[in-house]
Amino acid sequence: MSNRFKRIISVILSVAVAAMITACGSGNNDHIMTDSAADAAGSVSDTTVIGFSQLGAESDWRSANSESMREAFSADKGYELLFEDGQQKQSKQITAIRSFIQQGVDYIVLAPVTQEGWDSVLLEAKEAEIPVIIVDRMVETEDDDLFTCWVGSDFYLEGRKACEWLHRYAASQGLSGNDLHIVNIQGTIGSSAQIGRTAGLEEYSAKYGWDLREETPGDFTQAKGREVMAQMLVTYNNINVVYCENDNEALGAIEAIEAAGKHAGPDIAGGDILIMSFDGVNQTAINYCLEGTIACIVECNPLHGPRVENIIQTLQNGGTPDKLEYVSETLYSSYETVREVRIDSETYPVTLLTQDVIDTRAY
Ligand code: AHR
Repeated sequence: MSNRFKRIISVILSVAVAAMITACGSGNNDHIMTDSAADAAGSVSDTTVIGFSQLGAESDWRSANSESMREAFSADKGYELLFEDGQQKQSKQITAIRSFIQQGVDYIVLAPVTQEGWDSVLLEAKEAEIPVIIVDRMVETEDDDLFTCWVGSDFYLEGRKACEWLHRYAASQGLSGNDLHIVNIQGTIGSSAQIGRTAGLEEYSAKYGWDLREETPGDFTQAKGREVMAQMLVTYNNINVVYCENDNEALGAIEAIEAAGKHAGPDIAGGDILIMSFDGVNQTAINYCLEGTIACIVECNPLHGPRVENIIQTLQNGGTPDKLEYVSETLYSSYETVREVRIDSETYPVTLLTQDVIDTRAY
């Protein structure tokens, strides 16, 4: 039995019970029951109910992503969006999914905080015959059939693009691998955004002989990025590259660098600390990239609302969406020295960041 059908039955039953109660009471309320029955029946037949478990509100990227989902699943387009904020806790997200199952939603959309630990609740959704669409970060499950499909970013590719850019930039400055003393401010540990970006950095550090001094979580937030960077500047006196796993962390790192009397910028040999980042959503970060304070930003596109809506339309029409849908993303820098990067025999251009580019971006 489909979830929509189950909801219709449940509404019919509740309307019938209410009508019986009214019949036992005053006859003056008859028209009220008729109207509410019509409303209830109408809302069930016309509305697609989406239960969305968002992982939190840690960054500008996340805010843009939540907004994109709200816009895509608006009431005037025939949707009811049940939005639950997981506040960075997997347990809260699991509770939200169970509540969506109990309510018999038509679709569940999950933006998972971490990759692992979803098998049981996804099995419950599958047994309830509710399609689950994973968005943004990935889940790691024993059986891929536990979810319908996924759409999001290739975080490992993002990391490798950033690192290949660094390799080429360092070469253009006459620096060799062991001249680079790098710290990594990681994202939420166990999230696929952290896992992929960290994996890229570790792989390229080994490949090019970079001195990767420390990797510490900054939880994708500005406050933690600042705190972690301040501590690293006390611990090491030769940091010249900071790999920030998102823009909010980069903003915090720049604050800490300036507070320590140092300078974030391109001139590594002259004592600058080079900042690398991911996302390209926060406007201050984009402006920092334009003026060169942030050396490069690998885009992570947050506008998944329309993509998830397309998937749902495909399912509604009886189609089969792609199991995995990777979003294509840009690499920005305002330094003109590196024009492209090459990974696995694929060439990716570096978009020279200018005010015109900023003005034509979608976010
Ligand atoms: O999963 C996407 C990442 O999560 C973004 O890079 C980061 O800003 C966000 O919090």
